[in-house]
Amino acid sequence: MLFPDYRPRRMRQNAAFRRLVRETQLQVDDLILPLFAVEGKDVKNAIPSMPGHFQLSVNHLVETAREAHGLGIPAVILFGIPARKDPMGTQAYAKDGIVQRAVRAIKSKVPDLAVITDVCLCEYTDHGHCGVVQGHIIDNDLSLDLLAQTALSHAKAGADMVAPSDMMDGRVTEIRNVLDEANLSHVPIMSYAAKYCSAFYGPFREAAGSAPQFGDRSTYQMDPANAQEAIREVSMDVEEGADIVMVKPALPYLDILCRIKQEFDLPVAAYNVSGEYAMIKAAAEKGWIDGPRVMMETLTSIKRAGADMILTYFALEAAQVLNNR
Ligand code: PBG
Repeated sequence: MLFPDYRPRRMRQNAAFRRLVRETQLQVDDLILPLFAVEGKDVKNAIPSMPGHFQLSVNHLVETAREAHGLGIPAVILFGIPARKDPMGTQAYAKDGIVQRAVRAIKSKVPDLAVITDVCLCEYTDHGHCGVVQGHIIDNDLSLDLLAQTALSHAKAGADMVAPSDMMDGRVTEIRNVLDEANLSHVPIMSYAAKYCSAFYGPFREAAGSAPQFGDRSTYQMDPANAQEAIREVSMDVEEGADIVMVKPALPYLDILCRIKQEFDLPVAAYNVSGEYAMIKAAAEKGWIDGPRVMMETLTSIKRAGADMILTYFALEAAQVLNNR
């Protein structure tokens, strides 16, 4: 493979050749669209740091779900913004909570679109932490039952898959057991297995009103400096019964994604998070980068690193690009 015998440029000289040798194909099939479900009638609140995204009441969620389905996107993931918050996050597992109602509405109107639900307490607790707070400690074991009840209520409402994002130890086992006991053994768990304590979640916390009221999430989310530990986190969730494991965020953690894909024989999801989206949108708005091209390059790089599916706020836009080529 030496010049002049080997000339890599030969296979790059036209679009047809480039298509033939392209190693990574980003597809609409890979995309999962995150949506924010808010209480109220006919509400559509723009999220300033996430242009093109809104807090949506149930009627608008159904509309957007229809649009996603129409573009060929296989799934959405729902986050809830409850009307009231309390220390135990009771709206997270309330039968008529916002996510539970949104799931029922979307499943009745757009049945073929898979609805995944984010399972966590931070959007529902007044302190904004992902688990139960005792003093200033986030109590792991006390949180497990509430998380499992949340997953159970989502599944009972018709969620096709549940996705715990809390990072409490042992929650996958707890959720699996509770689902199985309720005859919901067919409901898969997508676990946020390697979830880092990241500043890239900033815009999401504005969107969901879920910033912690004291301290940060560093006692339960992973240290950004750790890679080996991600392997242990993922093996634990695999052992506990996760069906899909997730790496989050995506772009600053492509090394982790690549290793997880190589070491485990399970589908791997990557979460292209709110801050990753906001940066591209902001730079594109300023005219500093070509937004659509950076979007496609970013999503392709996440797929190339090993993601079988990508949760991304670009899902609708990327699907449009993919469908038009
Ligand atoms: C809830 C949750 C968060 C995100 C997904 N689920 C926020 C957090 O952990 O603080 C972040 C998603 C994003 O930034 O797009 N725990």
